[in-house]
Amino acid sequence: MQNRQIIIDYYEYESLAELPAEARGLMEKAIAATATAYAPYSHFHVGAAVLLADGTVVTGSNQENIAYPSGLCAERTALFSASAQYPDKAVTALAVVGRDAAGQLVEASPCGACRQVLSEYETRYGSPITVFLYMKEGRIRRVEGANSLLPFSFNADL
Ligand code: THU
Repeated sequence: MQNRQIIIDYYEYESLAELPAEARGLMEKAIAATATAYAPYSHFHVGAAVLLADGTVVTGSNQENIAYPSGLCAERTALFSASAQYPDKAVTALAVVGRDAAGQLVEASPCGACRQVLSEYETRYGSPITVFLYMKEGRIRRVEGANSLLPFSFNADL
């Protein structure tokens, strides 16, 4: 038997102002996308912005439904929309932010299902996806690659 470890590197920026310009622009688009959320049940509005290899940005927001599991998170709304519109353009980055019922920007870390989808787009395009997460007090967390968010993700030769 062997004991092994996974070490996950991540980076934190003090505020939006500290982010490089392209990442700041992506997070600002994710913030704007919170306004398009349809969240009458949770009142938790999530915005996501996907950056493609040629600079195209595709946004998404959470879309809820009275039959609860029928809704979709902001991250997958954005990723699926990007893939449906631009299937040949690799995804290079994703920014995510929440807005609570009081209208404050808050942390929204992707759920397990969204991490699995992110992981597959990375495999599909053969390049790592950088994830920017809005955190408490306006800090921004940067994670390099879906594997940092979802080690041991499912994969198979089907
Ligand atoms: N949600 C997202 O859209 N992304 C996340 O990262 C976490 C949760 C949505 C799902 C649901 O519409 C609402 O937030 C409350 O869970």
